[in-house]
Amino acid sequence: MNASQFVRQSLLALCLSVTTACGFVQLQLEKDQYQPQVGQEGKDVIWVPTPQALVEKMLDMAKVTPEDYVIDLGSGDGRTVITAAKRGARALGIEYNPDMVELSKHNAAKAGVSDRAAFVKADLFESDFSQATAITLFLLPDINLKLRPKILDLKPGTRIVSNSFTMGDWQADETATVGNGCSSWCTALFWLVPAKVEGSWQLPQGALTLKQNFQMVSGELKSGANSTPITNGKLRGDQIAFTAGGAQYAGRVSGDAMQGSVQSGGGNGQWSATRAGK
Ligand SMILES: C[S@@+](CC[C@H](N)C(=O)[O-])C[C@H]1O[C@@H](n2cnc3c(N)ncnc32)[C@H](O)[C@@H]1O
Repeated sequence: MNASQFVRQSLLALCLSVTTACGFVQLQLEKDQYQPQVGQEGKDVIWVPTPQALVEKMLDMAKVTPEDYVIDLGSGDGRTVITAAKRGARALGIEYNPDMVELSKHNAAKAGVSDRAAFVKADLFESDFSQATAITLFLLPDINLKLRPKILDLKPGTRIVSNSFTMGDWQADETATVGNGCSSWCTALFWLVPAKVEGSWQLPQGALTLKQNFQMVSGELKSGANSTPITNGKLRGDQIAFTAGGAQYAGRVSGDAMQGSVQSGGGNGQWSATRAGK
């Protein structure tokens, strides 16, 4: 063996031993990583992970894009937050268990999304999630109910998706179940936070009185001595639609004003209303 062959072989041996050592360190780090157990205690809910197929479905239902800020309430091992970040969204996991928070950060780094996926160790009941454009949760029906007033105060149009559990008598706007790749906890429920429209509104053509039950709207439109019931009234976030006296109204609610288009036998037109009282 000449000198240059000796140098080459020595370098090769050095590289191999460094690679092996790095691999060993990597394995050791993985082995030392906290291993959560399905069903382990959590502050208010045990940890059960959402199956990945349903995570994808939940984010599909919420139509998550890079414009979104997704918050998972009780984020477990971080899978929903990491999947949202992989879709380009900014995402935050709120999780009470500090070991799960560290595991989530590790998982986010491994997935290469640490710049968009953040995790905080906090109690979801004491956390501000008002900046979210989409909220995901896999909690329990009574916890959803406790959170509901805060959720209903979010910006109209905020998307909410829950793994399996309902929001009491606030009916879901959409429900979907995944089959392939999912054997339990495979159903997601989706809601859009409705604008608040209950009360009196003034239109050029009369006075509109609305009653609101979550996204369902009823009431009457009064014009002079004529009173017409509101039918098929529905909110989808800040979008409102209803029928009055055969005319179909569709429009957008923006605080104390609504405006849009109206279709009737007499043709199409525009309408607008301003709030006259709560
Ligand atoms: C059923 S797991 C869902 C985990 C994750 N969202 C998922 O879908 O895979 C519920 C999680 O909520 C956490 N948790 C329970 N009570 C909490 C609280 N008050 N604040 C924050 N996290 C909580 C638990 O530690 C657990 O990780």
